[in-house]
Amino acid sequence: MTKIRAAITGVGGYVPDYILNNDELSRMVDTNDEWITQRVGIKERRILKEEGKATSDLAVRAITNLFQKTGTKAEDIDLLIVPTITADMKFPAAANLAGEKLGLVNAFTFDISAACSGFVYGLEIASRMVESGAYKKAIVVGADMMSAITNYKDRTTCPLFGDGAGAVLVEPTTEDFGVMDRILGYDGKGGEFLHMLAGGSLHPTSHATVDAEQHYVYQEGRTVFKAAVSTMSDISFEIMKRNNITPEKLAWLVPHQANLRIIEAVARRMEIDKDQVLVNIQKYGNTTAATIPLCFWDFEKKLKKGDNVIITAFGAGFTFGAIYLKWAYNTK
Ligand code: UT7
Repeated sequence: MTKIRAAITGVGGYVPDYILNNDELSRMVDTNDEWITQRVGIKERRILKEEGKATSDLAVRAITNLFQKTGTKAEDIDLLIVPTITADMKFPAAANLAGEKLGLVNAFTFDISAACSGFVYGLEIASRMVESGAYKKAIVVGADMMSAITNYKDRTTCPLFGDGAGAVLVEPTTEDFGVMDRILGYDGKGGEFLHMLAGGSLHPTSHATVDAEQHYVYQEGRTVFKAAVSTMSDISFEIMKRNNITPEKLAWLVPHQANLRIIEAVARRMEIDKDQVLVNIQKYGNTTAATIPLCFWDFEKKLKKGDNVIITAFGAGFTFGAIYLKWAYNTK
């Protein structure tokens, strides 16, 4: 029997118009452009400021862009996965809300919570479902409105995050393109270093949790930094090795965009050049589940059919993953 693979056949994206640059941030909190640029590599990030709009709207706009570019109709979609940690509300899922707004009448829709590894986890789930033969047109849209859970009085976290959404269409193919290999995992011991304490069943929202500012991202940056570098390096190196991808054979590394220094350390370990790495952190910051598909969106013209592409991410949980793809199309 011919093997069915799952290939990305289109990408879409959306970032809000409002640009919060380092200078404006420096007027809000004790920081400066030089520190943020040197330590993290971010110059500006996008913030969703429209009244009544939230993560599902970011997802809807990215998917609308995907539909326009690929000529896909809403009724053809049979699966929608939304990796996010900033769903509009606890329930229903952002995917249910986005599906309704888009008119996805033939799909089933759900969110997954894997923080910055959300897109990699989501692509793994979607690709396995497509490979099964049961699903023909799946969408994974990494979408996060990080401004909703960022404390703009905390200089150690507020420069890092931004809002955005990136969507991919995943379809079956019997050709040798698409998802070729994957490594996914988690390290639950990392939970204490990166989390949002309140608003769940352990600490339901109360005056006390609000007073303690527990509805914001908490991060012990240095610990997360070290774990991110070693884990993303190990899994990216491992996936190269076991697929016989030498540095010359790799077209693109598409890493999660949390810190330029993390990205550069991973590239060094893989012994690849800077120009083999897709980077847009300077424009959008860390958009959590959206970083990797937003890179596909920004750099789609560079991605050529047959290119060996590795995506890799690390995030709260800790969660981590790397996927090796053979890019399936050329942009017209
Ligand atoms: O995406 C999910 C996973 N997340 C990540 O991968 C993020 C991983 N962590 C990081 O990227 C980095 O740890 C940060 C960017 C968060 C912080 O960079 P760092 O180089 O680890 O800085 P640090 O926390 O060690 O702080 C160094 C100094 C401190 O001052 P002292 O104690 O040396 O005097 C901080 O108080 O920098 C100070 N600092 C700042 N200064 C100006 C911290 N934040 C700022 C700031 N502006 N915004």
